Amino acid sequence: MGERVIPIRSDAGAAARSAPRYEGGPFADRLGRRLRDLRISVTDRCNFRCIYCMPREVFGADYPFLPQREILSFEEIARLARIFVDLGIKKIRLTGGEPLLRRDLPKLVAMLAPLGVDLTLTTNGSALAKHAEALKAAGLKRVTVSLDSLDDATFRAMNDADFPVARVLEGIEAAAAAGFSPIKINMVVKRGVNDGQVLDMARRWRGTGHIVRFIEYMDVGSTNGWRMEEVVPSAEIVRRISAVWPLEPVAPDYAGEVAERWRYRDGAGEIGVISSVTQAFCRDCTRLRLATDGALYTCLFAQRGHDLKSLLRGGASDDELRDAIVAVWRARADRYSEIRTAETAKLRKVEMSYIGG
Ligand code: GTP
Ligand code: 5AD
Ligand code: SF4
Ligand code: SF4
Repeated sequence: MGERVIPIRSDAGAAARSAPRYEGGPFADRLGRRLRDLRISVTDRCNFRCIYCMPREVFGADYPFLPQREILSFEEIARLARIFVDLGIKKIRLTGGEPLLRRDLPKLVAMLAPLGVDLTLTTNGSALAKHAEALKAAGLKRVTVSLDSLDDATFRAMNDADFPVARVLEGIEAAAAAGFSPIKINMVVKRGVNDGQVLDMARRWRGTGHIVRFIEYMDVGSTNGWRMEEVVPSAEIVRRISAVWPLEPVAPDYAGEVAERWRYRDGAGEIGVISSVTQAFCRDCTRLRLATDGALYTCLFAQRGHDLKSLLRGGASDDELRDAIVAVWRARADRYSEIRTAETAKLRKVEMSYIGG
């Protein structure tokens, strides 16, 4: 029986009762950071078994994924999302697991679209061709697709589900045809596995209007056997690409942007690098994560979450929920990537597929 790596929950209700009441206006965490981005994981399941995220040895046939009753309904998610938006959230990203495995996801999109925030989705692209139009029609604003290699054999090995790269490329085409632009394409680079394909990836998306982002392999969760030697520093990626197609830096789109932007000097568009390991960006981290079962996580590397679902299902009012969220945020002092060591990398952390990339 696979062991589910789910951390201990604290009682967000108790935190709310002891915290000062939220008076409206801005509020900050213990490091002065505002709450601006919410990432909602709509399922802890995925049809891929990416080696760096859901290794098959751990996430096997007997892995205890969350039962239906533990998973927030669309109505529950939408109610919380409204409260979050009242608290200043400007961007909502739907993630998973693989969010398009959640039945009727466009319905949730349609429920969230009227909130007027930057509504976006991170997907592995496997079912995008099927759903792109419905997602667009429902009001989704942006799409990010994970794509680790253009080489079919490497791609199949990395997703460990023998899924062909051509189907993901069809998904990206369908999303573009449905009117999503630019599409962001995320490549996690793991040394010795797909780092030989960085230039291919850059070449493929240059001049298309889409933006490929190269992500440093991270020690998220406790199952991927992360080793520093397997991280390819973003500086090396930029150097390699720039040697072929010269790059120049671009100012961030917004404060606290995760990706560092670079553009081709020849005008063929831009790329991004995400350097969570070699250049941590915790100082401006405005992100909060709502896990599939309604637990709140203040950091991607958190060891425990704060149970909102019990409040939600226990009859809490909107004010009580809002106070609980504010209390969790005010108590936040996470800056994991800034203090990462070989020792912290071994800590028992929550899995990314459950709290959302
Ligand atoms: P935009 O809204 O397009 O700017 O998206 P984003 O830059 O937030 O990118 P996205 O949500 O696609 O995140 C890309 C990748 O960055 C994720 O898959 C993670 O690997 C990494 N990432 C995102 N947020 C965090 C974070 O808070 N901490 C760390 N360490 N890594 C993060
Ligand atoms: N390191 C870096 N990025 C990761 N992702 C998942 N696991 C890791 C990891 N260990 C990213 C994937 C995907 C998103 C959902 O999370 O690239 O784009
Ligand atoms: Fe699934 Fe995304 Fe994790 Fe890969 S990275 S296993 S596609 S959730
Ligand atoms: Fe934010 Fe935690 Fe990532 Fe730092 S490590 S950027 S605090 S989520």
